[in-house]
Amino acid sequence: KHTPNVTVVLKRKEAEKLMSGSLAVTNESTDPIAGQKPGTSGLRKKTKEFMGKNYLENFVQSTFDALKATNVPVEGGTLVVGGDGRYYNKDAIQIITKMAVANGVKTIWIGKDGLLSTPAASAVIRTREGGFVPFGAFILSASHNPGGLDEDFGIKFNCENGGPAPEKVTNMIFENTKTIKEYKICKGFPTMDIGTSGTYVVDGKIRVDVFDCAEDHVGLLMKVFDFDSIKKLIARKDFSMVYDSMNGVQGPYARRVFVEELGAPESVLMNAVPKEDFGGKNSPSHGHADPNLTYAVELVQKMGTNKTGEKVGSGEGVPDFGAAADGDADRNMILGKQWFVSPSDSLAIIAANISCIPFFKEGLKGCARSMPTSGALDLVAKKKKIPCFVTPTGWKFFGNLMDSGDEKLGFTSEHLHGKYFPETENYTPFLCGEESFGTGANHVREKDGMWAVLAWLQILASKNPDESKPLVTVEQITKDHWKVYGRNYYCRYDYEGVESEPANTMMKNLEEKCATLKGTELKGMKVESAENFEYNDPVDKSVSANQGIKIVFTDGSRIIFRLSGTGSAGATIRVYLEKYEKPSGNLDLSQFEVVKPLADLALEISDLPKLTGRDSPTVIT
Ligand code: G6P
Ligand code: ZN
Repeated sequence: KHTPNVTVVLKRKEAEKLMSGSLAVTNESTDPIAGQKPGTSGLRKKTKEFMGKNYLENFVQSTFDALKATNVPVEGGTLVVGGDGRYYNKDAIQIITKMAVANGVKTIWIGKDGLLSTPAASAVIRTREGGFVPFGAFILSASHNPGGLDEDFGIKFNCENGGPAPEKVTNMIFENTKTIKEYKICKGFPTMDIGTSGTYVVDGKIRVDVFDCAEDHVGLLMKVFDFDSIKKLIARKDFSMVYDSMNGVQGPYARRVFVEELGAPESVLMNAVPKEDFGGKNSPSHGHADPNLTYAVELVQKMGTNKTGEKVGSGEGVPDFGAAADGDADRNMILGKQWFVSPSDSLAIIAANISCIPFFKEGLKGCARSMPTSGALDLVAKKKKIPCFVTPTGWKFFGNLMDSGDEKLGFTSEHLHGKYFPETENYTPFLCGEESFGTGANHVREKDGMWAVLAWLQILASKNPDESKPLVTVEQITKDHWKVYGRNYYCRYDYEGVESEPANTMMKNLEEKCATLKGTELKGMKVESAENFEYNDPVDKSVSANQGIKIVFTDGSRIIFRLSGTGSAGATIRVYLEKYEKPSGNLDLSQFEVVKPLADLALEISDLPKLTGRDSPTVIT
């Protein structure tokens, strides 16, 4: 049970290093700073803004104040701190540590070198043994946004269930940032050596644990998957793979999983040393640690496809499997030999084949996708007769569903509670994912880049039990899936760095248009429904309005418009396009070609080119 602050017998005894330092608390006066509203996934701004006077301090104090106001046991509690290794990560950790102690925190867990991937932080909160159950974590990351002095920095708070703080908490934090007058800090607290693992006890009272960032997360994944069978796959002479950590935080995890646990050669690792600028502007990814066909340039080349996922060259020497992670390692991209698996398809294919994963041995009890994600998952859910929830964009919406496992929500059998994970109190095999290259399950409360890759390797292992038979490939698995369920041709256009005002005008106009669109015919396609998506959370009954304009046609095609919630400046317009093709239809076309007419229609309906001055998208995925 997640009862914070309970002392149990320490299972892991480490020699304590005693340190001295002052624990005197100072109240520093400060003034509110505008614009500290957390977005889809925490507060993200230009690094220089974060480094400005009191910027980080104001946000961190506002968070502690919000937690204390809702009776979270900050005082005497345990806090996890880590980040994706980007510029300013290490300095921010020292500031947060000094402020945490001043706010009454007694134990601080820090990933060595300041590193913790987003899913690992979630795993640490939920599963790390250390005598105390943490009340939450500060994760320092701006995800896939470039890092560096002139790029982005970010911070988010995850709660004691390991998931992102819900909106009611982030709203309270934001309110606090508008009225903050002072923050607490222990200026005399020693600067910790976060490059060396160990347990440090300061002044006999405060305990700081610095630990290997991979041990808890990898330990958990080894319970979820059957590593032995994946090991056999990797050992096959006719199988090869590569994994691109994109200079983000995943490097040490990738080394641990693929090389140390699964016995793969070093050569599977690409860009596996975390860098503060993810390689920077002059690197092939231009510093975007973002696993998609546009930015994962090195991987895409290695896998023998082009930026639109089409085959390039003969395919000779191309690995059978390739994958990549983003800066904080919660995202994933899956590729086969000269083959791109779209995230929406990947989610559906994992769902369809899930019983080969030990965690899901008893079958899936429920699943969920974000609204803009394609309906491919729904088709699998329908066949399996399990509920498929459709949530707004953002992983935090999945957390409630995972924590619930409630039969009233349609979960068909009793909890499998405690069967594999006696330490996890609420265990209902549950899968979820998003079009934005996020996939995961309820082993943690974040999307999990490594989990998705292991899921695919487990599927490949189960399809290839006999080494003497030719390899069943990623491409084959994808095509077999379409033959059963049909294909949801899908594509997303991004218009990045648009001015906020025209973007907002466009969304407002679209919302007004919705009322009149229904029943009309556009370019031979009839509109079945048009609405601004609103989500009624079935668990806590909260309502999230204004989550994107959704236009559905009578043939099942969809156009969705949304403004990104993760940018650090200006606006990004996202246009999501989907067209369904039955199993008996033509399944082998290019998704970009198939959805092109829908894209033209989207531009016409929205007036996007005229309003924003853009005639082509910045990124197509
Ligand atoms: C983050 C969240 C995801 C979400 C994505 C959407 O990565 O963790 O859950 O899907 O942002 O980003 P957007 O830029 O479309 O708001
Ligand atoms: Zn991320």
